[in-house]
Amino acid sequence: MTAAQFPEGFLWGAATAAHQVEGGNVNNDHWEAEHSPHSPFAEPSGDACDSWHRWPEDLDLVAGAGLTAYRFSLEWSRIEPEEGEFSRAALDHYRRVLDGCRDRGLAPVVTLVHFTQPRWLLRDGGWTGQKTGDRLARFAEYALPVLADAEYVCTLNEPNLMAAQPVMGAMAMRGEEIRGLPRPDQGVAEALLGLHGRAMDVLRGNVRAAGMTLVGREHLAEPGGEERMREERAAFEDQFLEVARDDDFLGLQVYTAARFDGGGLVAPAPELQTLAHGMERRPQALGAAVARAAEVLPGLPLLVTENGIATADDDDRIAFTRDALTSLAGAVEGGADVRGYLHWSLLDNFEWMLGYRPTFGLVAVDRRTFARTPKPSLIWLGEVARRNGLA
Ligand code: FCB
Repeated sequence: MTAAQFPEGFLWGAATAAHQVEGGNVNNDHWEAEHSPHSPFAEPSGDACDSWHRWPEDLDLVAGAGLTAYRFSLEWSRIEPEEGEFSRAALDHYRRVLDGCRDRGLAPVVTLVHFTQPRWLLRDGGWTGQKTGDRLARFAEYALPVLADAEYVCTLNEPNLMAAQPVMGAMAMRGEEIRGLPRPDQGVAEALLGLHGRAMDVLRGNVRAAGMTLVGREHLAEPGGEERMREERAAFEDQFLEVARDDDFLGLQVYTAARFDGGGLVAPAPELQTLAHGMERRPQALGAAVARAAEVLPGLPLLVTENGIATADDDDRIAFTRDALTSLAGAVEGGADVRGYLHWSLLDNFEWMLGYRPTFGLVAVDRRTFARTPKPSLIWLGEVARRNGLA
């Protein structure tokens, strides 16, 4: 068997998101939730990795390893701290990060909204609010001086997961066990797809390539679960893929598989769950999810905008990523037009409700000093990038 190779010009990179690495994002909905009296968050985000100040060091690590792309997100609550009040200084900060990527030979992949929203927006309807479309369009327009020079612009991060979040919240309130990502709330899904459309109207023609990112999963049916699997896949994936059809590209973020029987989602067997995150360890889900997207949307350029594993065992991170990339190479061979692979994540960072315990990083971060220590997996991925394939 020949080792997996990737197409010429394939991008190799690492991904982050503002709230998970910058620190001090005191003006968004998550900070508020992290500090609410009955907060479901394990701990607050606090200073995160202090990447707001240490981004040059982060970019040096990415470029130094031999990677060629970096994904980061804009923090809306910094750029528009109050409704209609924009911070030129915050936008300039992101412009410096973007230029910092280019100076180091990294293709910048920029996400407009990675889960967080300013507090003022939350108070006025949040993602489903009547005026949110106009406001997102105005934010995108204001950010164009940064977005215009990105290689790829992602509008919303994982609207299919965002639409499942309220369902999970309600389940948690009722004390129900959450076994995986449930079917999205249809009203929220439609609202988010509408928001994506509003952002695309601003971006189309003004940036190099724009699209959304989705959670991609391998959908598996246990005996008797075929029909249920198809139904769930239609709600979680197909309706989003249809909207992406006319975009410039689609970002896929793949971590695991979802199994269904006649009764719905089935939790993975305990021995298949990864220790740190409880998801099924299923590296080949990457190739399966990419191949399915390519089958539904033939010819649409795809970018793997996230893939990775929360583990304290870095050898296992390498083994997992090697298997995931092998499956990705298979999807490419099968005809999928994949333009790059961005590993989640560059740093051990704030993993939302789970706090700092799950470690997805290629680089460890000392929680007290913020000192960065590259793990062998960073060196390994850099070698894959230089070779443009697996050894
Ligand atoms: C994805 C998110 C990302 C990160 C990974 C583990 O759903 O986009 O921010 O938390 O999961």
